[in-house]
Amino acid sequence: TGGDASGRRSRRPRRVLVFPLPFQGHINPMLQLADALHERGLAVTVLHTHFNAMDPARHPEFRFVPVPDGVPDDVAASGNVIDILGAMNTAMEAQGSGAVRGVLESVLADEDQQPVACIVLDANLLAVPRAAEAVGLKTLVLRTTSAACFGCCMTYPMLYQKDYLPPQESKMNMPVKELPPLRVRDLFYSSWSDQEKMSNLLVGIIEAVKNSSGLLINTFDALEQAELERIREGLRIPMVLAPGSLHKLSSKRTGSSLLDQDYDCIKWLDKQLPKSVLYVSFGSLASLDADEFIEVAWGLATGGHPFLWVVRPGLVRGLDGPDFLSSFEAAIEGRGKVIQWAPQNEVLAHHAVGGFWTQNGWNSTLESINEGVPMICRPQFADQMMNTRYVEKKWGVGFELEAGRRAPRAGACRHRAPHALQRAGPAHHLEFQFVADVAASGNVIDIVDAMNAAMEAEESAAV
Ligand code: UDX
Repeated sequence: TGGDASGRRSRRPRRVLVFPLPFQGHINPMLQLADALHERGLAVTVLHTHFNAMDPARHPEFRFVPVPDGVPDDVAASGNVIDILGAMNTAMEAQGSGAVRGVLESVLADEDQQPVACIVLDANLLAVPRAAEAVGLKTLVLRTTSAACFGCCMTYPMLYQKDYLPPQESKMNMPVKELPPLRVRDLFYSSWSDQEKMSNLLVGIIEAVKNSSGLLINTFDALEQAELERIREGLRIPMVLAPGSLHKLSSKRTGSSLLDQDYDCIKWLDKQLPKSVLYVSFGSLASLDADEFIEVAWGLATGGHPFLWVVRPGLVRGLDGPDFLSSFEAAIEGRGKVIQWAPQNEVLAHHAVGGFWTQNGWNSTLESINEGVPMICRPQFADQMMNTRYVEKKWGVGFELEAGRRAPRAGACRHRAPHALQRAGPAHHLEFQFVADVAASGNVIDIVDAMNAAMEAEESAAV
């Protein structure tokens, strides 16, 4: 609420600025938040970089303002997240964040627009909180990863003091007893080669959060109560959660996808049996080498279940993807469908989908949990290993696929799943395959164990 020239109180809508980190997994939750704020009566301005710029035509309700990002074309084309983020931060921080400050000043000075209440930013963009402070603009930080992940950022110095870090091969399986159920290998620092760069980034993020007016985390209490409690203890600013996660807060489809989503796959899913289809996607950033990609393809081809597989441009290193895929599609004779990019939320909500083979990006993990779809996890980097660990060991809604490791026995996932996460049962077709694998192993103990677990399921109702 503001005042007009005569001193009367007026209820002029306020404007919120949002500035996502320009990667799909960060853009989606920020735009979902923007949708939710707009639906509740606030005007929204989206600040965006040239790199991975969104299409303003998809969001006529928002105003879009470009910010120079300084990412050289060859770095942008490399697809290397760390290099792109590094180049962006270096360029934006140059000359006391002058370019970002200039953009903020002109947005604040625009009298045709509603008065600006605050900026919601991704704290990986290190120059933005400093520029906002310089122009007197309040900041809120949106964390697009789990509370556990942010908790890890906060404990970074402790992990060094207690010798968990720097990561060493001999310590990889050591449990981090202060952060259960994580092991050293699950910490995202373990996959980061330049520890000094990592340390600078984390210091900047924590500083931005502590100096902000509040922290929004895309998670909810039923999922990460202990982790949220630890954060609350360490911060003196208000913390806001998204009940059931951000993509459930707005009634709109996000429309923030950088690639075109193939809605034809929904018609294909409509023709499949309930919970029969394995949905396979490794997110927006991970890539596979040719060997692993071909292994995945033959796993799907011989797995005996219908599948919907996302092979986005750039997913495979060192293979002529289109060539391979055309012979693969001929071989599977319609039992599976390969697409470039899916409307993932609609796919996971579809009654035909019974399982999700995922890289465990935080958005994918939340989206899958929200739809009650169990996961086969193949994490690649960053927070994905940690998400997988929680999925398997804490929430019991999936398991990690490791070379040489057998899948858990039937019913194992459901047993440990907290009640709130059990909206849909696990994929029965997948369970049968696990049992068949055990039978073929000839191991008496495993077979009796699997048999008992299956027969005892649902209070021995089948027996
Ligand atoms: C990575 C990290 O692992 C993640 O945890 C971090 O927060 C952001 O960067 P990414 O590979 O992008 O994430 O995965 P994820 O967090 O799952 O985000 C991918 C998004 O793209 C999801 O919202 C998903 O719904 C969407 N998506 C994915 C599609 O719209 N179509 C697809 O075919 C695949």
